[in-house]
Amino acid sequence: MRITMIGTGYVGLVSGACFADFGHDVCCVDLDKSKIDKIEAGIMPIFEPGLAELVASNVRAGRITFTTDVVEGVKDADAVFIAVGTPSRRGDGHADLSYVYAAAKDVALAVTKPCVIVTKSTVPVGTGDEIERIVAEVAPDKQIWVASNPEFLREGAAIEDFKRPDRIVVGCEGPEATKVMQDVYRPLSLNKAPLMITARRSAEMIKYAANAFLATKITFINEVADLCEKAGADVQEVARGIGLDGRIGSKFLHAGPGYGGSCFPKDTLALLKTAEDNDVPLRIVEAVVTVNDNRKRAMGRKVIHAMGGEVRGKTVGLLGLAFKPNTDDMRDAPSIAIVQALQDAGAKVRAYDPESVEQAKMVMKDVEFVAKPYDVADGADALVLVTEWDAFRALDLKRIAGMLKAPILVDLRNVYPPADVAAAGLQYTGIGRAQ
Ligand code: UDX
Repeated sequence: MRITMIGTGYVGLVSGACFADFGHDVCCVDLDKSKIDKIEAGIMPIFEPGLAELVASNVRAGRITFTTDVVEGVKDADAVFIAVGTPSRRGDGHADLSYVYAAAKDVALAVTKPCVIVTKSTVPVGTGDEIERIVAEVAPDKQIWVASNPEFLREGAAIEDFKRPDRIVVGCEGPEATKVMQDVYRPLSLNKAPLMITARRSAEMIKYAANAFLATKITFINEVADLCEKAGADVQEVARGIGLDGRIGSKFLHAGPGYGGSCFPKDTLALLKTAEDNDVPLRIVEAVVTVNDNRKRAMGRKVIHAMGGEVRGKTVGLLGLAFKPNTDDMRDAPSIAIVQALQDAGAKVRAYDPESVEQAKMVMKDVEFVAKPYDVADGADALVLVTEWDAFRALDLKRIAGMLKAPILVDLRNVYPPADVAAAGLQYTGIGRAQ
């Protein structure tokens, strides 16, 4: 099949490369020429494990090409995926759909044979209907169907998630689009991935409901963690104890500094806007958003408290800045609020992250970035583990205790057993554990 991806961001590039790897003939379109030039030269616009190799091998096999020209890109396409950004609209939190609609219009004008336009970007319920209206307006004589196929990729594990998904959700109306989408996903269906065909509006809603549910799960365990701390329980044990109940499930019960990233914060807000527009308030999701926002800054106060309540003139070392490991993404990372809270209290911040420093420089000021994990601890008044990169899981705690000015470790991801930290001579503060 001939597949076109519009947009070479996270979702577009990973999906395009994976479709090519499954044997489809893929063309990726992006209006940003410098981005396309770089990808063609083997430089990926994002850090994602395995992506550069996957793109390169499919370029060599002649299964994936890149262009800035929509007309060339969609020529002979059976399915055109729209994977452009849907950022939160400034001011009101609604998803900004201007890029999606512009792409839909360009594609409808350019396609050369009957095809399906598929939204892969996360779009609010009803977006497919609006695309259908645009298509009918600009290309009334063409056979174009509109489908929704939300993506459930996690950054850092995106290729694995694409190739071995828990499920594939496709929302479409009518047999023609269903047939094309079944053919698109046939290689994965053979891998036993359940392909769920739903109404288009249901597919659009599934994506938001899934992300809001996961954000709720995290926020729930984060609040339970706070209670554990006061009540003398250990949230790690509590999470395991409840997660083994099949009705609850063990995933996404890891307490931490609050969720961040490109999806949960933006999608929960957009879902609340849809709820408001439909006059159906989603009180639980409202609470999740507020609790999570407050939590990130509260983590800064937690560090200050662990340091005795006064940090003016002191140096705090941060291990990890990205919103989670294996990504360079800083969008809504808890580290941003933590750095701000520490600096507001007069502390100096020093930080190390394996991948996100360039991105971090754009969103935080007056931070000293160092080149190695141990450099963060050198002469600092406390060390804070913010992102659980694997490289931070086996640090020599005794060495760190010897390097720090004050022996304080704040472990916001519960990576280290408190007893090991104490044995190394460090004072331990974790999340939801006896301090
Ligand atoms: C998420 C969804 O998992 C994915 O299905 C969707 O398509 C996009 O959004 P992603 O943002 O890449 O993916 O990261 P994810 O691994 O889900 O983590 C999101 C945030 O939640 C991170 O800040 C992470 O640290 C935090 N988190 C996750 C926790 O604090 N505890 C957990 O148990 C799990």
